[in-house]
Amino acid sequence: MAESGAWWRQGIFYQIYPRSFQDSDGDGVGDLAGIVHRLPYLLTLGVDAIWLSPIFTSPMADFGYDISDYTGIDPLFGTMEDFDALVRAAHESGLKVILDLVPNHTSDRHPWFVEARRSRDNPRRDWYIWRDPKPDGGPPNNWLSEFGGSAWQYDQATGQYYYHAFLAQQPDLNWRNPAVRAAVYDVMRFWLRKGVDGFRVDVIWHLIKDAEFRDNPANPGYIEGRPPHERILPRHSTDQPEVHQVIAEMRKVLDAFGDRVLIGEIYLPIERLMAYYGKDLSGAHLPFNFALLSAPWHARDIERIIAEYETALPPGAWPNWVLGNHDRPRVASRVGAEQARVAAMLLLTLRGTPTLYYGDEIGMRQVAIAPDGVRDPFEKNVPGIGVGRDGCRTPMQWNATPNAGFSTAAPWLPVAEDFMHENVVNLTADKRSILNLYRALIRLRKRHVALVAGHYRPVAAEGDLLLYRRDGEGEILTIALNLGDDPVSLATEGSGLEGQILLSTHLDRDGEPIHGTLDLRGNEGVVIGRSL
Ligand code: NOJ
Ligand code: MG
Repeated sequence: MAESGAWWRQGIFYQIYPRSFQDSDGDGVGDLAGIVHRLPYLLTLGVDAIWLSPIFTSPMADFGYDISDYTGIDPLFGTMEDFDALVRAAHESGLKVILDLVPNHTSDRHPWFVEARRSRDNPRRDWYIWRDPKPDGGPPNNWLSEFGGSAWQYDQATGQYYYHAFLAQQPDLNWRNPAVRAAVYDVMRFWLRKGVDGFRVDVIWHLIKDAEFRDNPANPGYIEGRPPHERILPRHSTDQPEVHQVIAEMRKVLDAFGDRVLIGEIYLPIERLMAYYGKDLSGAHLPFNFALLSAPWHARDIERIIAEYETALPPGAWPNWVLGNHDRPRVASRVGAEQARVAAMLLLTLRGTPTLYYGDEIGMRQVAIAPDGVRDPFEKNVPGIGVGRDGCRTPMQWNATPNAGFSTAAPWLPVAEDFMHENVVNLTADKRSILNLYRALIRLRKRHVALVAGHYRPVAAEGDLLLYRRDGEGEILTIALNLGDDPVSLATEGSGLEGQILLSTHLDRDGEPIHGTLDLRGNEGVVIGRSL
């Protein structure tokens, strides 16, 4: 069995998008005191760590991913006292706290950038990425912003362009400059000293760009209707070999504080992703594995993805799985309400640290946003092709009171229309709700060490059935997931599938013995247990 000692290997992570979790001061935006208020809920859910999307001082052009003071709390979210109180309360409840580190870019209002753009010879100039115009006055190369248009913004006053992988209000820092590295490492130490248990590092694969700023090649596989930046391949603008040196440095900063975790946000194919564990595992503990976010929801595809991922992992590397986040459509909308339960069973029975996205445990769906209600700058820049992220960032649905108990004021994004029924209070009372399924799955994972530390063993299956085993510590658990609407029946004789049902996604078959055949209803998943 793999070494599974560290808390971040054993635990279950929960992502909070602070603007949308709980408002405590009646301004329609969630805040730190609101999160403290909801810690008891997280304890009843059973998660072990919370990751907070950015809570730092920010003009909010990209809702906190544009930081103007890395060591300040934005007043919208509260004060440093509120933050300290949150860490204290979380730790007293046994919950770890993970912050979002956004080192690739700052806000254009960060004092570093304000200085940098003052003049070409400003001492901070080289903290950002400045290039001369092409002879025709155009941008230095063909790199594109992920949020639409050129990645270069012309600065009239100094006659140069600066690089921004995202919004023009998010200039990229120059990570080839040692002073930048030192400054961000100090930021990390500031929060680590305050007791945070680790970081999720924003777009970590972006940090280093090609030293020569060569043009990127065209993408021959571009699909019409996809975001415009996909017209070129980011060969020279992301995933450069030197980035691993930077990540190893971050790890050292972190490791000096003991048992903390480094998570990397990385959207790359599995084979490229693996490099982010670093040479001899000196990189991120958990390079986020987003394979399920875009997986076609078919048993054979999922089976292949798991196999590819498991096979590609370097020796000793710990896996992880993600079903949703604040940038991607809600899982319940991608796969449907019934399969969302199967997806939950998948997430919580695979080998590796699971990260839950707030609200997925109550089956929250993508909320339609009226054109005049759009808040996401990505949607504003690239309208109409479905890139908007507001729909997965709507307020948590706590109860059936106005605004779903999220706020006494009109929330910054609309509450889902179905909140009267789909809310924490109501789904807690409903014995067979998805929320109670999540709770049961989390309890099961805690009770059965094999689910955390056991091997992953695929079992051959056909059609809509996905089968695998987790074994170790004297037990074998078999997970059988029906990814289709039709019932599935399987002869179990001699197949090693005998045992008893520990949990069904339908929450109505606990303890049922399996012999002869295993019958699954449409959209049903079960965990079958057997002692060795
Ligand atoms: C990734 C974050 O998850 C996303 O929300 C943000 O817009 C970009 N990075 C830019 O920081
Ligand atoms: Mg508030």
